[in-house]
Amino acid sequence: MKKKRVAILGSTGSIGTQTLDIIRTHHDKFVAEILVANNNAELLIRQAIEFQPNAVIIVNEQKYDFVCDALSKYPVKVFTKPESVEQIVCSENIDIVLAAIVGYAGLKSVISAIKSKKTIALANKETLVVAGDLIMRLAEQYQSPIIPVDSEHSAIFQSILGEPNAIEKILLTASGGPFFNIDDKCIEKATKTDALKHPRWTMGKKITIDSATMMNKGFEVIEARWLFDVQPEQIQIVVHPQSIIHSMVQFADGSIKAQLSEPDMRISIAYALNFPVRLSLNSKRLDFSKFLTMEFKNPDVQKFPCITLAYEALNKGGNAACIMNAANEIAVDAFLTDKIKFLQIAEIIEKTMTATTFIKNPDINDYIATDTEARKIAKELIT
Ligand SMILES: NC(=O)c1ccc[n+]([C@@H]2O[C@H](COP(=O)([O-])OP(=O)(O)OC[C@H]3O[C@@H](n4cnc5c(N)ncnc54)[C@H](OP(=O)(O)O)[C@@H]3O)[C@@H](O)[C@H]2O)c1
Repeated sequence: MKKKRVAILGSTGSIGTQTLDIIRTHHDKFVAEILVANNNAELLIRQAIEFQPNAVIIVNEQKYDFVCDALSKYPVKVFTKPESVEQIVCSENIDIVLAAIVGYAGLKSVISAIKSKKTIALANKETLVVAGDLIMRLAEQYQSPIIPVDSEHSAIFQSILGEPNAIEKILLTASGGPFFNIDDKCIEKATKTDALKHPRWTMGKKITIDSATMMNKGFEVIEARWLFDVQPEQIQIVVHPQSIIHSMVQFADGSIKAQLSEPDMRISIAYALNFPVRLSLNSKRLDFSKFLTMEFKNPDVQKFPCITLAYEALNKGGNAACIMNAANEIAVDAFLTDKIKFLQIAEIIEKTMTATTFIKNPDINDYIATDTEARKIAKELIT
């Protein structure tokens, strides 16, 4: 059988390295054709030597010579700059684009891949937060399948597969993050070390902070709205601290379908890569003969105002979620570099959402301009 040729955008990150683990195990089915990283030149070089891709891109130009020198003995092309990512995803020799660049930086390459009719395994949820309407229209126009990698959306996707029935409601599960059981006073003093201790998942820093503020769940509500064409009021967040049920779908007769497993991102990555056929994985199995506890709670929107901000952005439409995303990226970075306190993240986002120009029907240029304006405003609020 012909191997699937995969472009891994963000190969040095949490999702990227787990994708390469799957490709390593299933090298009879996949080949890593393109690897893209931003700063982590050392890891990119090691990956290139092991997987011998056709090409690698180190986006940070300052690291380009270093990567070229290290790979000079190998038949691997080396490129740099963000524009190279947009160009390379259009290559004929790619079957599937695993989009795992973090943040807004992943948007243009996803658009480019869609326009080249590639299959997209989408981890980069910010793309749908920023421009979900545009992305889904383009995907339909260019007949480019988008398969979710986010575990919740993979669970929803798996639950509706083959269903002729409309979704009545999505029950989007959330672990609650590290601060779910912590009182407000402690959250006020939370450090980045506290916020980076996620109880269930090991992920990149930005998404781990988004999980602590629960902005990540807000983003996922927006992601679900676009991926599954449902209205905001059809999406209910359910806090499920054990992260065993990865999300559920309710139908008109009251039936609910769900996907369950031990928390392991490789399951949803592998499903997206080899859809619709499941790959064998050595993931830990759920053991129902042992004491399995599953709890469900409502999210505390007072304690986690980012959830409300995300619903507000979704209901407002236009470029509101793009503004929210830009402000969030700046605020999270400021928190990680000790410029603001944890609770100020939501404050900066809210103020930026009020101060940035609202556009009702944005096109791609409007999204780019909005992102620039909102980042500038958020930075001014921080300084
Ligand atoms: N981790 C998870 O379990 C998980 C689950 C669901 C969804 N997601 C989503 O998947 C995406 C990736 O998350 P992650 O946890 O893997 O993040 P991560 O560990 O921080 O990795 C981010 C990757 O993106 C690359 N990158 C950053 N900026 C870039 C740029 N401007 N151009 C090109 N590459 C760039 C990084 O390169 P360098 O490291 O070389 O700088 C790295 O390879 C996010 O959108 C996240 O929300 C992640």
